[in-house]
Amino acid sequence: MYVSRLRLAHFRNYDHLELSFERESVFFLGQNAQGKTNLLESVFLCACGRSHRTLRDRELVQQGASDAQVKLLVKRREGPQTVDFRLYADKPRAVYVNAIRTRRIGELMGHFNCVMFAPEDLNLVKDGPAARRRFLDMEISQLSATYFYALQRYARALRQRNALLKTAQRSASLAVTLDAWDAMLCENGAYIQKTRQTYVKTLAAFAAQRYDAICGGAERFELSYSPNMPPACVDPEAYAQRLLSGRAQDIARKTTLQGVHRDDLALCLDDKDLRVYGSQGQQRSAAIAMKLSELSLMHDQLGQWPVLLMDDVLSELDAGRQQRLLASIGPVQCFFTGTDTAGLKNRSVRIIRIEGGKVVP
Ligand SMILES: Nc1ncnc2c1ncn2[C@@H]1O[C@H](COP(=O)(O)OP(=O)(O)OP(=O)(O)O)[C@@H](O)[C@H]1O
Ligand SMILES: [Mg+2]
Repeated sequence: MYVSRLRLAHFRNYDHLELSFERESVFFLGQNAQGKTNLLESVFLCACGRSHRTLRDRELVQQGASDAQVKLLVKRREGPQTVDFRLYADKPRAVYVNAIRTRRIGELMGHFNCVMFAPEDLNLVKDGPAARRRFLDMEISQLSATYFYALQRYARALRQRNALLKTAQRSASLAVTLDAWDAMLCENGAYIQKTRQTYVKTLAAFAAQRYDAICGGAERFELSYSPNMPPACVDPEAYAQRLLSGRAQDIARKTTLQGVHRDDLALCLDDKDLRVYGSQGQQRSAAIAMKLSELSLMHDQLGQWPVLLMDDVLSELDAGRQQRLLASIGPVQCFFTGTDTAGLKNRSVRIIRIEGGKVVP
């Protein structure tokens, strides 16, 4: 699939922007603080329903304006799709898919798919488990609205349960209220664990291939799911039992100690823990492989390639990795950004200059 048109109005530092594309990859070139990331952010919003930088719509609306628009036309195998976001500084957004107003943000999923690759993703290996869960959740949510809703319900139940554990005294009524939240945690937690297990298996095969392509096949990169609950807890009953057996400890520690909110991915290079033993270069290569494996996974699930957004990544890499990365992207439409085109080295990409929220010749 590819983005064929993008329209921005009063989004971040853009007054008005209209761009058309013919499947080609585009390099958005500009000095710092000109609006390159803002542009990729607007595209990402149309796939995931949220910015990769903020949860507040107010920040997305141009300062001094009351509302903003991001409208994207995507050409995909099933036919053209439009996604149209109306964002407001002081009221909830309105989102239209093919001109029909959506009731829930999950209805957006599946109309436009993209992978965002930003410099902070190069720390995916070094960072804590939360970054890897986010990586996984972003990916799976785009492929399954059911998963997205389960995550939302799980997060809500977890928040409520933890709040209860913080404030409540040990009492009979506490047990009853906990039961209610636990039921919601188990139903959704077991489903999340099962879904992650399935997707990670597929993702792992692609990640290993991608690592080979970047590093030449000298080492074996192995990514696997490392659930916090035992593997049997893909079954809600087993999940419930486990949660119940930890309840006394949860009450004592005033928080929910076990569950999918503590999951992680295990990352190994030739059977050695990459996080502990990997060099900086190996960790970065693995992070790139993980991001690119998202592309493969989407291709595998959707039967078409998503769009790749690469914000400032090339400038972070040495020349060798830059070249191998560009060579291994595959037939996707890619929107890159950077302050110079040095890393592109005679690749045929369209270059669009951005200055102060405007396209300049
Ligand atoms: N809501 C907003 N209204 C107006 N301007 C905004 C808003 N949000 C951000 N900006 C402006 O957008 C600019 C930053 O844009 P962006 O992050 O896209 O820069 P960039 O081109 O990616 O720069 P860099 O190369 O440093 O990453 C800043 O000048 C910032 O003040
Ligand atoms: Mg930027």
